[in-house]
Amino acid sequence: MDVTTMTPESAALSPVAERLKAKLSDRSAWIGVVGLGYVGLPLAVEFGAAGFRTLGIDLNAERVRALNAGKNYIQDVPDEALARVARAGVFRASDRFDDAAEADVVFICVPTPVNPNKDPDTSYIRSAAEALAPHLHEGQLIILKSTTYPGTTEELVRPILDEAARELGLTLGKDYFLAFSPERIDPGNAQFTTANTPVVVGGVTEACTDVAALAMGQVVAQVHRVTSPKVAEMEKLLENIFRSVNIALVNELARLCDRVGGISMWEVVEAAATKPFGYMPFYPGPGLGGHCIPIDPYYLSWMARKYDFETNFITLSARVNEEMPHYVVDAVMQAVAAQPVRLREAKVLILGAAFKKNVDDTRHSPTLKLMELLGAAGFDAVDYSDPFVPSLAVSIGGQALRRESVPLTPETVRAYDVVVLVTDHADYPYEMIAREAKWIVDTRNAFAHVREPSATIRVLGGGHF
Ligand SMILES: NC(=O)c1ccc[n+]([C@@H]2O[C@H](COP(=O)([O-])OP(=O)(O)OC[C@H]3O[C@@H](n4cnc5c(N)ncnc54)[C@H](O)[C@@H]3O)[C@@H](O)[C@H]2O)c1
Repeated sequence: MDVTTMTPESAALSPVAERLKAKLSDRSAWIGVVGLGYVGLPLAVEFGAAGFRTLGIDLNAERVRALNAGKNYIQDVPDEALARVARAGVFRASDRFDDAAEADVVFICVPTPVNPNKDPDTSYIRSAAEALAPHLHEGQLIILKSTTYPGTTEELVRPILDEAARELGLTLGKDYFLAFSPERIDPGNAQFTTANTPVVVGGVTEACTDVAALAMGQVVAQVHRVTSPKVAEMEKLLENIFRSVNIALVNELARLCDRVGGISMWEVVEAAATKPFGYMPFYPGPGLGGHCIPIDPYYLSWMARKYDFETNFITLSARVNEEMPHYVVDAVMQAVAAQPVRLREAKVLILGAAFKKNVDDTRHSPTLKLMELLGAAGFDAVDYSDPFVPSLAVSIGGQALRRESVPLTPETVRAYDVVVLVTDHADYPYEMIAREAKWIVDTRNAFAHVREPSATIRVLGGGHF
């Protein structure tokens, strides 16, 4: 594929960089991907499909075994795509970093969580870089893809690689290369995939940007170059903070609509979205979920504090969004209070454990928080149903428990006093649920199309939650 947004003048490149570019262009380069999760596995399969010999490295031996047996565990990767690259012998997985010695380009796609104090946990990046360092060699390009605070590539990864490079007499930008290129994958999005979503690339030197842009351009149609890894790191955080702030805004307005009554925030957003410029729709919900939006803003506020700077937008939006599960619990309590059942005996069924529709990813799902809060509020019988999530690890009253998804039949729906719609999966039998349930707390306006429901339905932001 073409690299469409290269800067017109590239820096004069070293012979080593020219050789790497030639290997990328004729697809004889070996690609390594460290961390075979939601980000790393689709990327590895994409490079394999483009004809590159690709090696995936993951510390999780079970994942490695599964992949080498042709078993897929990431919903966005078609089983057939994995089978094809495995059959063609262009992809294999390993849990040994020794194998990275063969790779010309290595992508680091490891997790970047926060610790209990919501400070960045970059230990996965550090350990991946430390494990790669002994295998650094002339002509190797390392690209960090994990979302992180500005400065990570140059201040955390670079010193680890530089130390190894010094012993080998290698110079960054001439003999080996380092860049940051954030990931934009949107699990479950059928329209925008790795191939047709533009990517941003920022290298430590211009030559690093050059080779990294060419590497990304092998599997992505459009590459946008920036002047440094820091710009690329900050750009990714801007994308996610933009979402978090706008979601907080509609969440706050949804609560105002509930307070005022008679105004549906869903109708308001739909109307505002008819404006063809200067507006894009965001929707209220039961709280943020996933590995990115609830986590990434904290990376920036942590970094900002080092500069005596308060990121007020981030703090405020986190506060508003984190309040949403509590708001939903209040709505469940009101639903119980309106029925002839005592709170302790009330049965609550949560629909959806995945953090967004039509995916199986439960990381930081609002359902986990809701189960914990409902348990703390005195509800003994809280179950969930999710066709994508057969079982779920939850923490209730400080106890780690495992819950199984309840089959969604008219009998089961009838057995619950309150049904809480958290994730609006397309396949839920909405008509049946609205017919059989007593009370529905709908956090996604998912029952809007059901005509004459038998259940009482309270919609978050619907004007009378
Ligand atoms: N999931 C998304 O939609 C998404 C989107 C954009 C960016 N990101 C970012 O990409 C990064 C990876 O996220 P993910 O969702 O793919 O995570 P994931 O948890 O799905 O996968 C990470 C993988 O890395 C492996 N791993 C951990 N430490 C390792 C190490 N030292 N060496 C080798 N393997 C190691 C784990 O076993 C796991 O298989 C994060 O920084 C995340 O914020 C994720």
